[in-house]
Amino acid sequence: MSSPGASSQTQSSSTTTPTHRHPNLSAPSMLERTLSSRRVNSCADGDADGDADESKTKKNQHILFRITTRASNYLSRIAGSGSFYLPCVIILLFIFLAFSFLFTSRGFVCISSSYSPVSGAGFFGFDGLDSDFGSLGVPCCRSKHGKTVEWTSKDLLKGLEEFVPIYETRPIKNNMYGMGFDHSFGLWFIACWLKPDLMIESGAFKGHSTWVLRQAMPDTPIISLSPRHPEKYLKKGPAYVDGNCTYYAGKDFVDFGSIDWPNVMKKHGISDLNRVLIFFDDHQNELKRIEQALKAGFRHLVFEDNYDTGTGDHYSLRQICDQSYIRGGGHNCFKDSDEARIRSRRKKFWEKAVDIEELCGPDEAWWGVRGFMRDNFNHSNKPISYAQHFQNSRYIESILDVYWELPPVAGPSLTHQTRYDPARAPSPIVEDGRYGLFRRLGLANLDNSVFNGYTQMVYLQISEQ
Ligand SMILES: C[S@@+](CC[C@H](N)C(=O)[O-])C[C@H]1O[C@@H](n2cnc3c(N)ncnc32)[C@H](O)[C@@H]1O
Repeated sequence: MSSPGASSQTQSSSTTTPTHRHPNLSAPSMLERTLSSRRVNSCADGDADGDADESKTKKNQHILFRITTRASNYLSRIAGSGSFYLPCVIILLFIFLAFSFLFTSRGFVCISSSYSPVSGAGFFGFDGLDSDFGSLGVPCCRSKHGKTVEWTSKDLLKGLEEFVPIYETRPIKNNMYGMGFDHSFGLWFIACWLKPDLMIESGAFKGHSTWVLRQAMPDTPIISLSPRHPEKYLKKGPAYVDGNCTYYAGKDFVDFGSIDWPNVMKKHGISDLNRVLIFFDDHQNELKRIEQALKAGFRHLVFEDNYDTGTGDHYSLRQICDQSYIRGGGHNCFKDSDEARIRSRRKKFWEKAVDIEELCGPDEAWWGVRGFMRDNFNHSNKPISYAQHFQNSRYIESILDVYWELPPVAGPSLTHQTRYDPARAPSPIVEDGRYGLFRRLGLANLDNSVFNGYTQMVYLQISEQ
């Protein structure tokens, strides 16, 4: 077992664990350059889907333009040479264009790409569920100035192409209770793109996420905090222990909130905290973790389990930002409502979907989990008032530069995942129906079970304080 300050030797169940470079991801080398000052009105799914969504919108507008043009031609023909019809034609065209705009503009709301009527639901043959996507929607946290990440859906696709063969070499093939494919890809992609000088993970389990970080950055030091040292798992089966990682684990375990970070940063020769990436997979209240990270001066955070309202064992960003002023956010507990009906229908299809009875606790408290702020694998939980919940969201918005939820890698008709409700997730990178692409990327060769663990992993950039 290694102790803080000392590096252990690399060992894993497989004798050699290849590390891979990522020649194709033409990422900027400085963390600052990962962000664009482009302002978007949509949720940060945002930019993952930016190109696709934009082009989808453009395509729709294009089609509508063609229809209006044809309609106008047709009407002009009817009108013939008579000037009597001309004002009617112009009025009709005006109404048509106004409708076109209404249905194609994304508006000043936090609209996720899952709002798109071109959704996976159709593949399951659910009647009328297209509109349900709009009704449930996908809430997200608003950042201070509406900035989003620089990477696009094209970058994510390119990343997937590169990551699938890497993932196939993972030492822990069955990582039950740890990360599956979606989040492994997300973490790898973010680390590749940001190219930090130091990576810190809180919550290592058998070491799969440590291995993912190592694949992204072969020579970058890692600090890993976990009550049980991953090497302990080696006795029973596959695990991963990294040679360039300082473990605060086992008897040397210290919680993230209790570490003397200035001292540890000094030991690692880190003077710019903007070049450090923190990965949390420790099932602690995310509000608490953000406050601790902020106090230490860290700015780039990834949370693995960004549970939706009514689910999960800790208070998450998704829960915090589920507010009435956000599209898809805020709920009511009326049993005889559209939301209640939609929820109960979706529950039949998706294991993790939550119906109105589950969503609502005593006194119609729906926020957090039935009005509770859970922490530490739900070993602790406290009731919070709606006012407090609202304040938490305002606080988060006041310190957030970027909020970006990783989209699922592929739609449910491709992955056959049945756990999370796609209506509560951004549009997938590989959309339903694109089996050719799914196969070409090598995703069809992976076991279906690796796609079941998606919980809206999120990347945050905290603004400079
Ligand atoms: C879901 S597992 C992590 C999975 C891992 N990241 C992976 O990819 O396979 C959660 C881990 O958090 C650890 N944990 C529990 N409390 C913790 C704390 N306060 N700080 C850091 N890790 C903690 C648990 O022991 C467990 O190993």
